[in-house]
Amino acid sequence: MADLARPGSPTAFEDLVDDYDAARPRYPTALYDALPTLGDVLELGAGTGIASQELAGRARSLVVTDLGPRMLARGLAKHAAPGVVCAAEALPFGDAAFDTVCGAQMWHWTSAPAAPAEVARVLRPGGRLLLWWNEVRAEGAWWDAQQDRLEAGNPSYRRGYREVDYRAQLAPWFTGAPPREIDWERTLSLELYERWLRSKSYVQALPDVEGFVAGCRADLLAAFPDGQVLEPFVTRLWVLQR
Ligand SMILES: C[S@@+](CC[C@H](N)C(=O)[O-])C[C@H]1O[C@@H](n2cnc3c(N)ncnc32)[C@H](O)[C@@H]1O
Repeated sequence: MADLARPGSPTAFEDLVDDYDAARPRYPTALYDALPTLGDVLELGAGTGIASQELAGRARSLVVTDLGPRMLARGLAKHAAPGVVCAAEALPFGDAAFDTVCGAQMWHWTSAPAAPAEVARVLRPGGRLLLWWNEVRAEGAWWDAQQDRLEAGNPSYRRGYREVDYRAQLAPWFTGAPPREIDWERTLSLELYERWLRSKSYVQALPDVEGFVAGCRADLLAAFPDGQVLEPFVTRLWVLQR
């Protein structure tokens, strides 16, 4: 199985911790309410702990991990769960150690077969891999222009790169249903929106980040003259069973 699309560098986030933590969209309460019983949880690619804080209150136990020590450190300042710097492809845990493995906005960074084989190894029989992503569902000239600029400036980026059938991709290790989709939206200032843009690895891979942000700013001001950006999302949740 080929690696999934990677429109930027997986370690780019290490220099983006502040913008990431301030501006990244959270996940809707309906997402956490839709999770099956969690039990003992391993979170992969936990980053600055956006999902970890919610998981800590719902799991019997939680261990958080990330490839990036700076991202993980920011998350560990927010909750009491133990943390380990490691890649999803080489997990320093024993066989059948967890009931659930979670990955929020991160699985597209992993490599197969190493990562799914490792997850299957550390899960107990019948354990679950829960994967979710926020995806922007905006429409309008500002959005089309932003996506056009990204595709022109970063050959690895394609709009819709998250539209992957993970049930098919992970069929050798897991079974599951099509993803659950949860629609929601947020309103944020233009300043925060720009920090959100800068927190994306595929934006950092552009040859002219500031030019890109300035172009987006002009389009956004035309669409949202009061400087308050309305941003619609769909959150897709994949529940996959070992
Ligand atoms: C987009 S962030 C998601 C962070 C967090 N889960 C969230 O929901 O905000 C992706 C995270 O995956 C981590 N990452 C990238 N490749 C990884 C890998 N192979 N194994 C584990 N973590 C990885 C990055 O360091 C980063 O913190």
